[in-house]
Order: sequence, then C-alpha cells, then structure tokens
Amino acid sequence: MAYENIIVETREKVGFIQLHRPQALNALNSALLAELSTALEAFDKDNGIGAIVLTGSEKAFAAGADIKEMQTLDFADAYLGDYFSEWERVTRLRKPLIAAVAGYALGGGCELAMMCDFIIAADTAKFGQPEITLGVMPGMGGSQRLTRSVGKSKAMDLCLTGRMMDAAEAERCGLVARVVPAGELVAEALKAAGKIASFSLPVAMMTKETVNRAYETTLSEGLRFERRVFHSMFALEDQKEGMTAFAEKRPPNFKNR
Ligand code: HXC
Repeated sequence: MAYENIIVETREKVGFIQLHRPQALNALNSALLAELSTALEAFDKDNGIGAIVLTGSEKAFAAGADIKEMQTLDFADAYLGDYFSEWERVTRLRKPLIAAVAGYALGGGCELAMMCDFIIAADTAKFGQPEITLGVMPGMGGSQRLTRSVGKSKAMDLCLTGRMMDAAEAERCGLVARVVPAGELVAEALKAAGKIASFSLPVAMMTKETVNRAYETTLSEGLRFERRVFHSMFALEDQKEGMTAFAEKRPPNFKNR
C-alpha cells in the first residue's frame, strides 16, 4: 500500500513507522489514522516482525489531533461518529510497540505516545495536554493514561494549565522509560526493539499482555493471571531452548514455538 502520511520500513525483525505530515507537525487527522492502523496491524500479523517502533520528526512526534479537522465538528457528529474511538486500535496490537519521541508530543500526540508500550524520549521532547487552551479536554485517553502514568497531581497540573513538560521532567515522573540525545533517538529505539525481537516472540507478546493486565484489574487477579501465563510458558520449546542454552553456556536459538 502507498502511504502519504507515514513512512513504513522493515529493519530486520523490527517494523519502523514514521509519522510524516511535516507541513502540520504530524497533526493526527483521519487519513493519517487510517494509514497508521493499517501499517501497525500489518506488522502485528507478520510473523517475521518481533517489535515495532513509532516515531515522528525531529521537530514533532505529533502536535496533536488535527485542530483544523475538528474546528467545525458539532456534538452530534462527534457523538454519532464516536470521534477518536478508532485510535484505540493502536492499543489492541499484540506485539511490543515503542514510541520514539523527539520535539512536540502534545494533546493527541502525547496520548498516542502513551498508547505505546513504552516511550523513549529525545532530550528535545516536550509533552503536554494543551486541549484546555482550545476549549476542550483530552479525548484520546490523556485524562486516564496520564493520570495512571504520572499520578493525579502532575496529570491535573498538565491537563488544567496546558503547560508543556520537558524530557527531564517526563523521565522524573515516569512518563518516559529513558531519555537519549536527539541524534541517537531512532538508533536507540531500533536497538531496543531489535533486542526485544531477538527473544521468543510468543514470550514477548505474553509479557506485554501480562504487564498491561496491571492496568486492567486488581493486584490479586493480576498476580493470578501472571502465574497462569508463566506456567503456560513451560509448554513452549523456547523455554527449553532458553534454559538449555544458559546451562550449556551458549546463545539461545529461539524458534517462536
Ligand atoms: C493542525 C497544526 C497543529 C494541530 C500545528 N499545526 N499543530 N495543524 N492541528 N494540532 C500546523 C500549524 O497550523 C502550522 O500550519 C504548522 O503546523 C506549523 O505550526 P506552527 O504553529 O507554525 O509551528 P510553531 O510556531 O513552531 O509552534 C509549534 C506548536 C504549535 C507550539 C506545537 O504548532 C501548537 O501550539 N500547535 C497546537 C498544539 C495543540 O494544541 N495540540 C493539541 C491539539 S487538540 P500553517 O499552515 O500555519 O503553516 C488534541 C485533542 C485530542 O490533540 C483529543 C481531544 C479533543
């Protein structure tokens, strides 16, 4: 498929997607969403891919949902069209998805980064939920995912003042997993994704599913879920291979079985 708003590449076992609407700082419009979900879902189904990296440009991961597309929307259209619910498709991916964020990640851009499994930020990254400055509030998960990620006080601060926070603050409050120099962002994200893709694919997928469970359920149910999934891993050839390789002091050769 020919894409106009994203660039899609495969780097060995890593799927690489770059948001590419430079004229609008990667503002997220419906055309971009359609292309992004198609590309993500194709990587998710491809057994040769073990992890996915999503990035933007040096200036902007994404400066938010497309304000010009929303400007004339009325309530009935927004409600009947269940506006923004389609973005949940990103969270239904089963393979690990890393956001590599440089520059602005604002509004829907910050929310998209938070839909990924973890965020690696360039030291130039700026995160914010400035919707209130436009007369609305976060609508793609920001009020919920930001609060769970950084806690109530900081989430309230960001959503109510609309201010931006830099990469150092984002790392301090746990929104991002690591901060790297801007020039190394894509290489670092590809390296992390490559590492994940070198492991057993079903094990990486089950690990993602289990960590995500921590968001969806109580501690005791989450612990039960973890134990059941952990037990099931002993049915995989890759568990035998991983542990045998350790005992034999050689690298494992995972078969994704
Ligand atoms: C549409 C956008 C855009 C956006 C930038 N552009 N952000 N277009 N939607 N979210 C366009 C500008 O209109 C401009 O187009 C071009 O991109 C370059 O932007 P500038 O503003 O000229 O760049 P700069 O001066 O460097 O400022 C960067 C910026 C600013 C601080 C990021 O662009 C900005 O504040 N953008 C809006 C950020 C925002 O409020 N995001 C939240 C959106 S609401 P032209 O044609 O003039 O060159 C949201 C809602 C989520 O995400 C769901 C709930 C409703």
